[in-house]
Amino acid sequence: MWDKGDTILVDAEPTQQNSSLWCLSREDSGIQPRITSMSKLGKTLRNDLLKLGEKFSTVIVDTGGQDSTELRASLLAADVIISPMRPSQFDIWTLDRMNKLVVDAKQVNENMRAYILLNAAHTNPLVDETKESVQYFKEGHYENIHLLPFVLYDRRIYRKVVGGFSVHETGTDGKAEAELNQLYKEVFNV
Ligand SMILES: Nc1ncnc2c1ncn2[C@@H]1O[C@H](COP(=O)(O)OP(=O)(O)OP(=O)(O)O)[C@@H](O)[C@H]1O
Ligand SMILES: [Mg+2]
Repeated sequence: MWDKGDTILVDAEPTQQNSSLWCLSREDSGIQPRITSMSKLGKTLRNDLLKLGEKFSTVIVDTGGQDSTELRASLLAADVIISPMRPSQFDIWTLDRMNKLVVDAKQVNENMRAYILLNAAHTNPLVDETKESVQYFKEGHYENIHLLPFVLYDRRIYRKVVGGFSVHETGTDGKAEAELNQLYKEVFNV
């Protein structure tokens, strides 16, 4: 029996099941706390997520960034959506598409908050892509999607961390931790 107060991670990525694999290797490594996870695909995902929301205090869903049945179904159930984008691939077309998906979803799920997160930003201050991306966003005058006021930089720790650990659990990259803390604060208010 699940207790309310727990967190569940739902892997709803149609092409690759990275979140499930991460949980599995976490389990194999015996890392605490355990993270309950499940895979769910298809149109029934919205109802499944709403039901899970009654049992768990936090439901985290990974749909992947591509447009999919799973992304659309999740948008209909989510309180918060975070859409990570790399500044180098950041373009008006992608933002327009995300904005449209959010506008459609808000007809049913009106209180959802939708955020764009700039991820894997260049650490070299001479590279302007992040600034340019922020500028692009401003010029779009989107009313339904909000740009988070911080970025996650491209840091090797994300590629090096294995065995189901989190960046914080490796304790080796204070900068990446501080950046992630801003995200946790925004989403979970911690
Ligand atoms: N901030 C970052 N710094 C360095 N490497 C990163 C960062 N964010 C992601 N990566 C690396 O990039 C790769 C792909 O990232 P990620 O898993 O977030 O995308 P994805 O799940 O493949 O994309 P999507 O599911 O949206 O299509 C991973 O190997 C990950 O370690
Ligand atoms: Mg993914």
